[in-house]
Amino acid sequence: MRTLTGIQPSGSLHIGNYFGAMRPAIEAQARGECFYFIADYHSMTSLFDPAQRRKNVTEAALDWLACGLDPQRAVFWRQSDVPQVTELTWLLGSLTPMGLLERAHSYKDKTAKGVSPNFGLFAYPVLMAADILLFDTNRVPVGKDQKQHLEMTRDIAIKFNQAYGETLVVPEADIREDVALVPGLDGEKMSKSYGNTIDIFGEEKATRKKIMGIVMDSRTPAEPKPDAEKNLALILLKLVAPADVAADYENRLRAGGLGYGDLKKALFEHYWNYFASARARRAELAANLDHVAAVLREGAERARTVADGVLQRARKASGLE
Ligand code: ADP
Ligand code: TRP
Repeated sequence: MRTLTGIQPSGSLHIGNYFGAMRPAIEAQARGECFYFIADYHSMTSLFDPAQRRKNVTEAALDWLACGLDPQRAVFWRQSDVPQVTELTWLLGSLTPMGLLERAHSYKDKTAKGVSPNFGLFAYPVLMAADILLFDTNRVPVGKDQKQHLEMTRDIAIKFNQAYGETLVVPEADIREDVALVPGLDGEKMSKSYGNTIDIFGEEKATRKKIMGIVMDSRTPAEPKPDAEKNLALILLKLVAPADVAADYENRLRAGGLGYGDLKKALFEHYWNYFASARARRAELAANLDHVAAVLREGAERARTVADGVLQRARKASGLE
């Protein structure tokens, strides 16, 4: 069983990324082979500042390692250190119907928001398919927003196998329903692009301010809240507090008597404690960037070995060799 996932280095990682993709990926290390990468080729469709890209890659590596990615148990690399993926992208892209790409929600959403589209943005699902198929991946932990991309990956793999014979492993998405869509501070999907995030390693004062600023309704503390389960602060508290503590807050909210200010305070405290040991680990790692660079370099070597094998299979199957 091989698990693979990637995250774009496009800004600070937030708790939506953590619960949707990183935590399942980190847990999977106890079970089988794990392949995790920083998707810097993907970042090129929307980030055009080289220094910023380098910085983001380092930050993302620190975030992953601090959160528990263990280089002894997982292969961890920077996507562009395995350029074989761009060759597979071409092989797959040449079999990918335009209609499939035209139906991609992420492309339609971005262009609808006024992002001026480039070829990379349009082709992005093919590069993502290549990321996955290049490593004979079985499972891909992702948030719900990536579901369609996984379906496209499967379609593309099946098309390749039909055209050239059984060559590529058809992967499954691993989407946890309970954390598939972590809401942001405004109740919409938490996303870097919506400015509604709680960062995993946010600065203390600023994060407290953000959390205390979550807008609630105008019911008084004494009023019972029969719809407690819809309360945004409670939904987030359930992610970072022990189950019995969160259940206690839920009961008090439902019964009446718990003020929103106290609930938000509890959310901040539990968030802060939840990531305390990761925060300490991150500070240690940040003081030893040579080690981080070495981890990525060794990971890339291991990833390249697997990638070479699969690419060669695909080249042979398609008559390039
Ligand atoms: P963003 O929307 O902030 O740009 P990305 O698209 O880079 O995040 O997502 C990286 C990973 O984190 C993907 O697997 C994605 O599905 C997951 N993810 C992102 N936002 C959320 C969220 N709000 N809830 C659950 N998972 C999420
Ligand atoms: N497209 C994903 C995102 O924006 C990141 C990603 C790139 C990815 N390649 C991948 C995720 C391969 C899983 C597998 O969130």
